[in-house]
Amino acid sequence: MIEITTPFEMRAWSRAARARGRRVGFVPTMGYLHEGHLRLVDRARERADRVVMSSFVNPLQFGADEDFVRYPRAPERDRDLARQRGVDCFFAPSESTLYPTGQPRVRVAAGAMGDVLEGASRPGHFQGVLTVVAKLFHVVEPDIAVFGRKDLQQALLVRRMAAELDFGVEIDVVPTVREVDGLALSSRNTYLGHDERRAAVALSRALRTVEQAWRGGQADAATLERLGMDALRAPGVTPDYLALVNDDLQPVARADARTAVVVAARIGATRLIDNVVLGDGLGADMVVRVS
Ligand code: PAJ
Repeated sequence: MIEITTPFEMRAWSRAARARGRRVGFVPTMGYLHEGHLRLVDRARERADRVVMSSFVNPLQFGADEDFVRYPRAPERDRDLARQRGVDCFFAPSESTLYPTGQPRVRVAAGAMGDVLEGASRPGHFQGVLTVVAKLFHVVEPDIAVFGRKDLQQALLVRRMAAELDFGVEIDVVPTVREVDGLALSSRNTYLGHDERRAAVALSRALRTVEQAWRGGQADAATLERLGMDALRAPGVTPDYLALVNDDLQPVARADARTAVVVAARIGATRLIDNVVLGDGLGADMVVRVS
C-alpha cells in the first residue's frame, strides 16, 4: 500500500493507474476505521482494479459547537487496517495541504435536499461534505466511489452532485454494517459510555418496530412514525427526528417498499443517526461481532 499526503502526488498516482487501463475505486472516510468503512473497501475492490481510501477529518462539515476537535483519530491503526483489507493507496492529506489558502470560499451548495433532516439539525453540514467530496473527486479522479447507506442523506446528495454536475463518477452505496444488537457501526460510538451504549440500541429498535408494522400491513406514515417514536423513547435517549421519506427525502403519507425510515437521536451528548429502506429491511444489512 502506497501512502500519499499531497493532492499533486495523489492525482499523479491515479492518472498513472488509469493510463494503464486500471479502473480506480475510491472510498472517502474521516478515519477511525471500523468494519463499516472496510466493507466499502471490499465493494470497491469488487468494482475496480485499484482502491484508493482517503482519511481526512474535514473541518468544513462540522458546526462551531460540534465535535471536530475531539473527533476520534487513530492514523497508525487506520493505515494497518486499510493495508490488511487490500487498499492500494491511502491518501491522508493534512488540513494545510488540502486547504492551502485556508477554508475554501467557493463551496458546493447542497440545495433543498441539504436543508432537511440532518441539514436542519446541522446547518451547513452538507455544503461542507459536498465541497470536500468534490475536491477529493477532482484529486483522485475515480471511476467509481463507494459510500455507506448508514449516511443515506449524504449518499443521495453525493450521487445527485455527481449526476447533476457531470462528475463522471459512479456512486455505489453499500448496506449498513451493524453490531449484533442492531446498533449501526459509527466512529462516534466510541463516545458512548457503558449505559449509553445500551441505550443506543433504541435507534435500530425504532427502525425494526416500523419495519415490522409495515410488513404487518400498516402503511399510514403518521401511524408508523408514532410507533417508531414510541420505540425510540427510553431513558437517556433524546429523539431528534424519526420520519418516513421518499428518494428525495420528502415526507410521504403512505409507506411503500422504497420508503426510507430515517432516525436521529442524542444519547447523552452523542448524536447518532440510522435508517432502513422498508423494502430491503434491516435483514439486508450486515452484522458483525465487535470485540
Ligand atoms: P465517515 O463518517 O468516516 O464515513 C465514511 C464512509 O463510511 C461513509 O460513506 C459512511 O456512510 C460509511 N459508513 C460509516 N458507517 C458505516 C456503517 N456502519 N455501515 C456502512 N457504511 C458506513 O461520511 C464521512 O466520513 C464524511 O462525511 C466524508 C464522506 C468522508 C466526507 O468528509
